[in-house]
Amino acid sequence: MNIMIIGTGNMARGIGTRLVAGGNSVTLLSRNPEKGAELAANLQAAARQGASAQTVPFGSPIQDEVVILAVPYHEVAETIQPYTAQLTGKILVDITNPVKATFDGLATPPDSSAAQEIASLVPAETRVGKRVQYHLCRAAGQGPGGRPVPRCLHHWGRRQSCGDGLPIGRGGWLARD
Ligand SMILES: NC(=O)c1ccc[n+]([C@@H]2O[C@H](COP(=O)([O-])OP(=O)(O)OC[C@H]3O[C@@H](n4cnc5c(N)ncnc54)[C@H](OP(=O)(O)O)[C@@H]3O)[C@@H](O)[C@H]2O)c1
Repeated sequence: MNIMIIGTGNMARGIGTRLVAGGNSVTLLSRNPEKGAELAANLQAAARQGASAQTVPFGSPIQDEVVILAVPYHEVAETIQPYTAQLTGKILVDITNPVKATFDGLATPPDSSAAQEIASLVPAETRVGKRVQYHLCRAAGQGPGGRPVPRCLHHWGRRQSCGDGLPIGRGGWLARD
């Protein structure tokens, strides 16, 4: 499967490494060409089963079915604004911790969530999924082969597991609702 990751920071590195190791090709959408090229080279070195890693500049079109948002929550609206129309029909994976830019509280209303807020910014045909922190889920135990077990990846509002159909599960993690 081909996956786009928006951002080239710590989470893009971690998730990207697992994805290419699982045979999925990754395109990094980066506003920093040097950083993007360096991470793409690192991911390529970790790639297996013919997977590839590349970087494209921010503003390039989204070609992939799955898009992972790996930017700070307070940057999400600005980041996806130019891509709203292109996200129609895509799977958008929100991994953000919805903290304020000042890190002194949650940026989301008490009766909402990051995925819910992000879903309100994109077309109804965009499927927004949430990846819960897998390190928290480790408390739930280890999967076969000692793999960490995330609890997550369900569609906002429906609690419909989409882990089986998504590359996260194939990237070395188990997905469970
Ligand atoms: N679910 C989990 O398990 C988990 C765990 C930790 C963190 N997170 C969340 O994951 C997200 C990323 O964390 P991180 O540690 O990877 O952060 P990071 O290392 O600071 O990387 C953030 C990336 O976002 C890019 N970015 C920021 N604003 C942007 C914009 N307006 N347009 C385009 N790109 C933009 C940055 O670009 P530059 O490199 O050019 O600055 C950078 O590549 C955060 O929301 C964080 O809360 C989730």
